[in-house]
Amino acid sequence: MITPINNKNEISHVLKEYFRGYQISDDPFEKVAVYVNQDIIGIISYSIIYERGEINYIITLPDYRNQGIGGKLLEYAVNDMKNNNCINISLEVEQTNKNAINLYSKYGFQIKGTRPNYYEGKDAYLMVKEIEVR
Ligand SMILES: CC(C)(COP(=O)(O)OP(=O)(O)OC[C@H]1O[C@@H](n2cnc3c(N)ncnc32)[C@H](O)[C@@H]1OP(=O)(O)O)[C@@H](O)C(=O)NCCC(=O)NCCS
Repeated sequence: MITPINNKNEISHVLKEYFRGYQISDDPFEKVAVYVNQDIIGIISYSIIYERGEINYIITLPDYRNQGIGGKLLEYAVNDMKNNNCINISLEVEQTNKNAINLYSKYGFQIKGTRPNYYEGKDAYLMVKEIEVR
């Protein structure tokens, strides 16, 4: 089950253990949703900044990968952004992170540019998904 959370402290232990590069943010535009199967097994963080959407990060806990959870979290965020009238969604992903690049490509994100030194000396791709205006 995917559910939005309001209290970001609920994910701090998961980030600390499995995703050290990311911390809880006080960005007022940020929204967080979790995939729960008794405990939290997946997290997506995204921001809706007026007509622009951004995926901040997505994580599925290691034991639960390749079961479609990352895809469901991404679909959830994309739908929320569509419902909030975003016209495009962008993200940065490390160039060596093939799993994530495949995931984002599967859901219609295209590589539009590079971000040199984006992650402490590591290059990233900018990926963008355009939303059809209804
Ligand atoms: C990237 C990540 C979120 C994918 O989560 P997941 O729950 O395993 O993803 P899914 O099972 O929904 O897979 C969806 C698609 O992602 C891609 N993918 C996921 N794992 C993959 C792997 N090991 N090898 C290749 N492609 C992979 C595939 O395109 C897959 O679609 P397919 O099954 O039809 O081939 C997960 O590997 C993860 O948490 N990684 C560490 C955190 C991270 O790097 N996050 C992204 C940057 S913020």
